Amino acid sequence: MPRFPNVSQHAHSVSHRVYSNLEQRALGSNEQLYRLHVGDTYRDPVAPARAERQLSDEHPGLHKYAPVHGEPSLIDAFIAYVEGRHGETLNPELVQVMSGATAGLSVVCQVLLEPGDEVLLPSPFWPLSRGIIATKGAVPVQVPFYTRLDEPGFDAEAVLERAVTDRTVALYINTPNNPSGRVLSEVTVEVMMRVAKRHNLWVLCDEAYEEMYYAREPPGAVWKRPDIRDRAIAFHTLSKTYGLAGARVGFTHGPEGVMAAIRGMQTFHTYCAPRPMQFGAVEALRQGGRWIEDSRALYRTAGYEAADAMGVPRPEGGTFLFVDVSAELGPGDEDCSAFLERCADAGVLLTPGRSCGADYAKWVRLCFTSVPPAQLAVALQKLAPLVRTPPA
Ligand SMILES: Cc1ncc(COP(=O)(O)O)c(C=O)c1O
Repeated sequence: MPRFPNVSQHAHSVSHRVYSNLEQRALGSNEQLYRLHVGDTYRDPVAPARAERQLSDEHPGLHKYAPVHGEPSLIDAFIAYVEGRHGETLNPELVQVMSGATAGLSVVCQVLLEPGDEVLLPSPFWPLSRGIIATKGAVPVQVPFYTRLDEPGFDAEAVLERAVTDRTVALYINTPNNPSGRVLSEVTVEVMMRVAKRHNLWVLCDEAYEEMYYAREPPGAVWKRPDIRDRAIAFHTLSKTYGLAGARVGFTHGPEGVMAAIRGMQTFHTYCAPRPMQFGAVEALRQGGRWIEDSRALYRTAGYEAADAMGVPRPEGGTFLFVDVSAELGPGDEDCSAFLERCADAGVLLTPGRSCGADYAKWVRLCFTSVPPAQLAVALQKLAPLVRTPPA
């Protein structure tokens, strides 16, 4: 049947228009906006990694296609990084350079999922993860999780187990987590992996915030566990680790059979990540160790100040606070819109919690790294009167 002028069902399941109304409203009464809804950093990457430093004289054919697999020098630099950070030596054949973790997850979902398949998506989650799964015609099964870890009697294994059906094919896990700021303990990961093994699920390990932890060094990376190595596919990105979100460079690695299929699918997706920025990424990986340490210290201070101002627990990792604002809403409010509007009137943009999970309509997300510290301080002063909880 002809489709014109309609679009596909999948396209209806995702929308990018979440913020435009709030932004218009904020602009109406403010000269300066504080865009704490954007998950990015105010920090520039190390100089040799920047776009303006990639030169045709040094890299003949700079603007040509890169190999689908990725630039060999970049794969080597990533393998060296993983050895230093995680103490594991990856087989270069099993590493695929991707246009960020977004493209990585998208390609992997394309490879693994059939329409109607289900993916366990512990919530709250990175907003795009739900949309990526949905655009493949699969079903993201949302399981309230990261915000419940400290609830007395919360049984992580039981809640995941209840969500499994005979259509479930994968479990997505993201620690440190966007948006809750939680870092999963070894024990929680262990029970999650028990569920994955019991039901023969793929395990999708989102490592976007692998370097952003503040309280203590996180337990070993999930994908490294010997018991799930044959089912774990990991996503790494330079976006957060090295402040290179616009470069669109990341890595996916996993077991042999699936990586061949992933490389094949990548050819039809973006073909390759931007070649000039692959050379920049090499420099970030080689020279960015200090940048990561400085960022961790700066982000820790920012995260703790934001948490204290908002009256919520300090983040263990990541770059966000996830705040329950139900106490600030009226009896008739079905979601956090009224609160977001008050924030927008004060010039501060936050993310509606629902984009991180259907169960979080009365929550909001705040990114504490998207603006420099002085601006964050002003934004927090504007927010403080809007949250009744007195600052700690
Ligand atoms: C958990 C998580 N995974 C992946 C991404 C996307 O990373 P990339 O910029 O590499 O596509 C983000 C971006 O915010 C994220 O928060």
